[in-house]
Amino acid sequence: MRLSLRFLVPLLIALAIAAYATVPLIDAQILRWFSRDLDVRANLISNTVQEPVSELLLTGNRLRLEQFFGRLTSDERLYAVGVCATDGERPFATRDFPDELDCAALRNLVDAPGALLRPPRGLLHVAVRSIEDAGPRALLALVHDMTFAERRSEETKRYMVVFFVALSAVVALITVVIAQLSWRGWITGLRALIRGEGLLRPAGGFVVPELAPIARDVRQLVRDLEAHYRPRDGDQMVWTQQTLRDVLKGELHGNDVIVVSNREPYIHVRGPDGIHVQRPASGLVTALEPVMRACSGTWIAHGSGSADRETVDRNDHVAVPPNDPAYRIRRIWLTPDEESGYYSGFANEGLWPLCHIAHVRPTFRSSDFEYYRRVNQKFAEAVVAESQRDDPIVLIQDYHFALLPRMVRKMLPKATIITFWHIPWPNPEAFAICPWRNELLDGMLGSSILGFHTQFHCNNFLDTVDRTLEARVDRETMIVVRDGRPTQVRRYPISIEWPPAALEGQPEVPEARRSIRARIGVPADHKIVVGIDRLDYTKGILERFSAVARLLEIEPKWAGNFTFVQIAAPTRGMIGDYRDYALRVKALAHEINTHYPRAKYPPIVLLAEHHESDAVYEYLRGADACFVSSLHDGMNLVAKEFIAARDDEHGVLILSQFAGASRELPEALIVNPYDADQCAAALHLALSMPADEQRARMRLMRALVRDFNVYRWAGRMLMDAAVMRQRNRLAPSTEAPDTIHAR
Ligand code: G6P
Repeated sequence: MRLSLRFLVPLLIALAIAAYATVPLIDAQILRWFSRDLDVRANLISNTVQEPVSELLLTGNRLRLEQFFGRLTSDERLYAVGVCATDGERPFATRDFPDELDCAALRNLVDAPGALLRPPRGLLHVAVRSIEDAGPRALLALVHDMTFAERRSEETKRYMVVFFVALSAVVALITVVIAQLSWRGWITGLRALIRGEGLLRPAGGFVVPELAPIARDVRQLVRDLEAHYRPRDGDQMVWTQQTLRDVLKGELHGNDVIVVSNREPYIHVRGPDGIHVQRPASGLVTALEPVMRACSGTWIAHGSGSADRETVDRNDHVAVPPNDPAYRIRRIWLTPDEESGYYSGFANEGLWPLCHIAHVRPTFRSSDFEYYRRVNQKFAEAVVAESQRDDPIVLIQDYHFALLPRMVRKMLPKATIITFWHIPWPNPEAFAICPWRNELLDGMLGSSILGFHTQFHCNNFLDTVDRTLEARVDRETMIVVRDGRPTQVRRYPISIEWPPAALEGQPEVPEARRSIRARIGVPADHKIVVGIDRLDYTKGILERFSAVARLLEIEPKWAGNFTFVQIAAPTRGMIGDYRDYALRVKALAHEINTHYPRAKYPPIVLLAEHHESDAVYEYLRGADACFVSSLHDGMNLVAKEFIAARDDEHGVLILSQFAGASRELPEALIVNPYDADQCAAALHLALSMPADEQRARMRLMRALVRDFNVYRWAGRMLMDAAVMRQRNRLAPSTEAPDTIHAR
């Protein structure tokens, strides 16, 4: 459109100038033509009436002369006639003869081309001819009405304007069509050039010959841009859902994006009043869901809801979010044995405790690993089935799918596979106890890019590969090369969407404060600290409760004036360690509450049930502080959600030093969850922190979470994938796909 305007505006201006200059010229020319016609007509009339007029003049018969003139002027063009016999002042003339024409004036015009007069009644043509038979000074003046010439001129002008407008429209249309066609040709050629595709015919020679001279320059430009890409991305880009969409549209235009995770973002559950949709309490889902809303791809996940089968189409697809579909889920069905061996067994009794230092021993069973392998294969086949092309972008999530990258690589060698490990990666000694360590590492190295939350976890992974496998580990470029194929290992700290969707429609903070206090039955000025977790032994919930108990010992004034509200979503209930943990958490809460029988309000309120994100955000907004005490955590998004929820810039975050988030949020009160005294002191500090200090800390943390949001997390991975794909296209065909060069 803008391109068309660029052509059209100058063209229309040129045509308007042409029209403006031409019309007066035509006007003058038309008058000249008519004047000349009237001269000829005047000669004719004068020759014809010479005789009768001279006779009448000589006989002096004025009455007959008047009648004769009357007959002459009955011609509609001949406006008036007059004669001068001598040099008298006034001519003898018809009634309309112009007053300003006396005989002296007429004499100056004798036998000359007609003169134009413009009295108030309109344009007149005056031709004067001598009547020699009536005397040497006799003359005849013929006055013609020329207003008809003006009317013609007006009509001609109108036709000219219409003609120029029509001409402009036709010329503009032709110009725009030609401009668009040639522009498209150029753009297509340039795109092909930049992609390195379709530029050269197999037999040599350029498909778009005009572009041949600039091919080299454009390629150089692409390389220069790539070189500048990374610093711009990391430091300068402001990431929003739209930026992410632009990256997908611009850098990865037309590419398939397929996400794979065990947990699905929307679970259909059958309840007493029909089917309803549940959102799981999973950090992974919290992070990825807004990304998928921006990408509109396919999310492959285990269909675990009781009504999941009833809500898919015949290809096992369901469009989500249910009220405003933006992408689709492909559900994978697992048998109870598969679910128990792959999910509960190998993933959650083996890898989960192996990667988290939470002092729960991992359990490894070969039957579990067999199911893990089988389920990974099932998902790999689904990836191939869902992919529309042979080089999709596949985002594999987490420890449930360590074998999947290699399996997908075998079936789709040209795929760009990004694997993100959402949990910590242990040191090589800890990892070495896994009997299938080689298979797991080899499986992960099927990825093009492998992401962790922190540099520490990246380093642990490189150390582990170095100690375990035959592979070249380049610590400077963070690239592992296995069987000639590289995997880039990078740090991508995960985050949340900004602003979070759950914040929409939330009551103001004072209202949230009132409502959560009313719900748990405490007064309006009662202090509340909140904890929000899955009921998982890595989250340090017991340690948190011990810190509350210690606070009440050190600072008894808080007993009855402060309550710790723990929202704990039940999780992985089929695993013994989780059931035991849930029981121990409930028992400790009860024990602490009964230790303070005289306190008016209980120190701990434990809400061990699933809460939807709206309810969670209300607690986060209404509390005075939030306590995240993970014993070990990849990132911990509750910490970031608390910050995002506090648009009032109040509230204090107490954060475990063993959560990845502590690397990004030094303004939180950072604690060692194993140190009850330190945690109790942090609780006291949080409950008594002045508003100014709360605001200063919260502002810094909000700026960080706003800028380092989940769109940046996903965007950086996808931009890295785009650069990798571009390089693969530009690389000589002798190099293996996915080869990336040291930056
Ligand atoms: C947490 C972890 C994720 C993990 C998820 C699984 O969010 O941070 O890494 O994938 O739990 O939870 P689930 O309920 O699906 O077992």
